[in-house]
Amino acid sequence: MRDEEGNEVMSEKEIIHNVMLVMVAGHDTSSVLITFILRLLANEPSVYEGVLQEQEEIAKSKVLGEALTWEDLAKMKYTWRVANETLRMFPPIFGGFRKALKDIEYGGYIIPKGWQIFWVTAMTHMDKSIFPEPHKFDPSRFENQSCLPPYCFIPFGGGQRICPGYEFARIETLVAIHYLVTGFTWKLCADDFFMRDPMPIPTQGLPLQICPRKLSY
Ligand code: HEM
Repeated sequence: MRDEEGNEVMSEKEIIHNVMLVMVAGHDTSSVLITFILRLLANEPSVYEGVLQEQEEIAKSKVLGEALTWEDLAKMKYTWRVANETLRMFPPIFGGFRKALKDIEYGGYIIPKGWQIFWVTAMTHMDKSIFPEPHKFDPSRFENQSCLPPYCFIPFGGGQRICPGYEFARIETLVAIHYLVTGFTWKLCADDFFMRDPMPIPTQGLPLQICPRKLSY
């Protein structure tokens, strides 16, 4: 890729790397989130009921085949809290690199300017001084997200390099969950374990028994 004066501004290799980055960053992350929400909804009946009720209310207000709107997405407050709590406990991205721009003192140690630092999502998300009883799945933690201290909920990173796909990920997750819970029921068909590779994935690929759902409206 060249600018108007003919100087190369991006090599072919850089373009390929960027396209691959967007494909991995844009696909694997949201698919992991949706996978873990499906797993959770199968295991937690009370959370499932809350999500179903919210999504049915929205479905009832539409005629058959009518698409979801921005207003509908704004009503999916409980579902997004469930998604946030899923992101807190099972963040698709386990961390990232930063470079110290100046000497930093942290926990009695000096991190010298220029050093690379790897921040780990779970260290923050599982810190009980930020999220009491961190191993408990509790979507109500996100009832008032503005009360969370800055940089304490970081599934999408933070600062200048925060994930640019955040809004898109929110939309695709809410839309997918809407059509799944209103149209289908499902049961897990395998023992429930997951590993990190480096994204969290169910060891057996989350096989589901999925059935079309009778509409109650
Ligand atoms: C649940 C879904 C997603 C999660 C959890 C997620 C998470 C992240 C995280 C943690 C980072 C690093 C941010 C930082 O260093 O501060 C990142 C970067 C990035 N994400 Fe996402 N992401 C998601 C969805 C998406 C989607 C849907 C797209 C595109 C369509 C996308 C595109 C990108 C790109 C291009 C970067 C690199 C940005 C940069 O280096 O400046 N992500 N994402």
